[in-house]
Amino acid sequence: MSDPHATVAPDSQAARLTAGNLAADDDEFDGSLRPRDLSEFVGQERVREQLAISLEAAQARGEALDHVLLAGPPGLGKTSLAYIIREELGVGLRPVAGPAIERRGDMAAILTGLEEHDVLFIDEIHRINPAIEEILYPALEDFRLDIVMGQGPAARTLTLDLKPFTLIGATTRTGLLTTPLRDRFGMTFRLDYYQPDELEVIVLRSAALLGTEVTADAAAEIARSSRGTPRVANRLLRRVRDVAQVRFDGKVNKDVAREALALLEVANDGLERTDLQLLHAIVEKFDGGPVGLSTLAVSLGEEADTVEDVYEPYLLQLGLIQRTPRGRVATRLGRARIGAARDDGALF
Ligand SMILES: Nc1ncnc2c1ncn2[C@@H]1O[C@H](COP(=O)(O)OP(=O)(O)OP(=O)(O)O)[C@@H](O)[C@H]1O
Ligand SMILES: [Mg+2]
Repeated sequence: MSDPHATVAPDSQAARLTAGNLAADDDEFDGSLRPRDLSEFVGQERVREQLAISLEAAQARGEALDHVLLAGPPGLGKTSLAYIIREELGVGLRPVAGPAIERRGDMAAILTGLEEHDVLFIDEIHRINPAIEEILYPALEDFRLDIVMGQGPAARTLTLDLKPFTLIGATTRTGLLTTPLRDRFGMTFRLDYYQPDELEVIVLRSAALLGTEVTADAAAEIARSSRGTPRVANRLLRRVRDVAQVRFDGKVNKDVAREALALLEVANDGLERTDLQLLHAIVEKFDGGPVGLSTLAVSLGEEADTVEDVYEPYLLQLGLIQRTPRGRVATRLGRARIGAARDDGALF
């Protein structure tokens, strides 16, 4: 518990940590398409409604918003929501990547640097170091920072009051969060995959922001291939737009969208090359499974984390694979999907 390094380093380390990482995650393009307030945030009705109420109530009371945990697969809008909350509250936001906080002193410096009602946004909060997590407990509960100074019998605990703030934690894996941390969030929102009609709205909005003409049926086509994920919808739109510009007159109608998606090797259920490779590996190489995650990852040349967080959720969602205690297995649908891909010549 006592850590001789837990001094409050005033600045530089913390500043370096918070300035970097997150900006790199969202490239400039992505940033410009981000919804800026709740009204621009498409879908996730229930989340929006509950959040709107809590925001209004906190503001009316002149208090900091309760801590918020945002959970869900990549690209569904966790970071966007964090920035929207900041915007709605009209406060400052400090973004930090969970695994980037290496020392207790760094966390202490970040916490003491927060202004009244500021938002502290910790991305990948499930990857935060346990020693650092402990500092957060009193900070979240009582806005208090306990710093242990010195060692052994001479050790003293110095308690600092913090300004009331809101922690927004984002995670792709709630299962990996410790119970004491999870319990300290007043609100937990789980983001779900988006419906095609919601993605269509997102595509049309992004197209307008990009100044590209996209017909409604073309937007529907892109939406259908976007695996329920706004980030994918925006990425596909950007690629389709390139094709439209180079091969056509720049306008995106249904035929252009179809041709572009085929060129990009995106199937109309959203499966891309790597997804098919993964499914193909389970079906063919491992005879339908069960196969362990790490074995599967190695056979694809991917990190186990990437397979689990990025590829598997959508395959699970489509019912093409299953996670069992003994490993991953391909379902009947999954085997059929590989058969269809083979017939289409979509298999590499
Ligand atoms: N509800 C939404 N409405 C409109 N656009 C959205 C919505 N959610 C996400 N987007 C778009 O998708 C992009 C990716 O979203 P965001 O970065 O918030 O995802 P994330 O959940 O933080 O992903 P990760 O887990 O990878 O950090 C955003 O830049 C934004 O353009
Ligand atoms: Mg994010």
